[in-house]
Amino acid sequence: MDAVKNLDAVDATTSFQVKSFFDSAPLLKDAESISRKLTQFIHQNASLTGSEGPRRVVCVTSGGTTVPLEQRCVRYIDNFSSGHRGATSTEYFLKSGYSVIFLYRRGTWQPYCRSLPDDPLLECFKLTSDSSIQVLESHAEAVKSAISGHHDAVSGGYLLKLPFTTIFEYLQILRLIATSMKILGPNAMFYLAAAVSDFYVPWESMAVHKIQSASGPLDMRLAQVPKMLLVLRKEWAPTAFCVSFKLETDKEILLEKADTALKKYKMHAVVANELSTRKEVVILVTESGKVSVYRENDLSVVESPLIKLLVEKHSTYIMDPNA
Ligand code: PMT
Repeated sequence: MDAVKNLDAVDATTSFQVKSFFDSAPLLKDAESISRKLTQFIHQNASLTGSEGPRRVVCVTSGGTTVPLEQRCVRYIDNFSSGHRGATSTEYFLKSGYSVIFLYRRGTWQPYCRSLPDDPLLECFKLTSDSSIQVLESHAEAVKSAISGHHDAVSGGYLLKLPFTTIFEYLQILRLIATSMKILGPNAMFYLAAAVSDFYVPWESMAVHKIQSASGPLDMRLAQVPKMLLVLRKEWAPTAFCVSFKLETDKEILLEKADTALKKYKMHAVVANELSTRKEVVILVTESGKVSVYRENDLSVVESPLIKLLVEKHSTYIMDPNA
């Protein structure tokens, strides 16, 4: 029962672990340019109003974080996530009238690119006899819809994409995003689909150069990455609507773990999914109960009904954030 302690604020141990994590993290490159882009994006969107009231902004996190083992990194520990969930969800949020800050792992799935083959540049285009480039008929529709969907979202100012690779970059950027989104009040949402490392090597105790195999078997102690969910809820973005994910490979423990996350981290909703069935079904866990959400058929995606349901829950929350 200890895991479900009713924390109303971040406790001293977590605060200490969070502080140590950020104090020892390598400085975020481009922090200034990221902050500038965020301020501009959020202020621009905060001034937009539609038929449903002020424009809503969601931060979608996507892909897995890495844990470097060396400062001049040759080896790292990775967390599984293709980024499909985050990229697809981004499209459905945009379709529902949200603006999206897409915090994604470099090299993972991107919004509007689901129908493209693995190597779009080489598989979708051909050189003609006069050396110009042409789209192959077989991929023309997919290329057109990827380019137009992406272009409309980015040039319209509705989609801001920020990449990360390591756990250090991910958490530092997430903190910048969350604190910048504070001004949006309950119109802000966090949709935390990224697979975040639970263990890491603190920067100051990390080998600088490539670890030598000639030294024999590798003994390494990993520190625990502090769970940032409660910090996000209580300090960084206290009025935002927060949705976290729970991934397990053992379905027997999935719902119990999701319930614990909902209570322990004060999430507004937790999306529970099992690795092998994650594309067919997810379970939305909230204070009011559990709802299984299925994709409608083989051609559709589970993110379509999931985002619809979350948008409804967010609307209810906006009407009365303290309910
Ligand atoms: O990308 P796909 O291939 O489409 O797969 C999608 C997915 C399975 C990765 C996605 O649906 C999913 O479940 N993402 C969350 C995976 C995860 O990290 O689960 P977790 O049970 O380890 O963590 C639960 C939550 O705690 C997450 O929302 C995470 O953001 C958060 N967390 C985790 C570790 C940590 N140190 N701090 C955190 O805040």
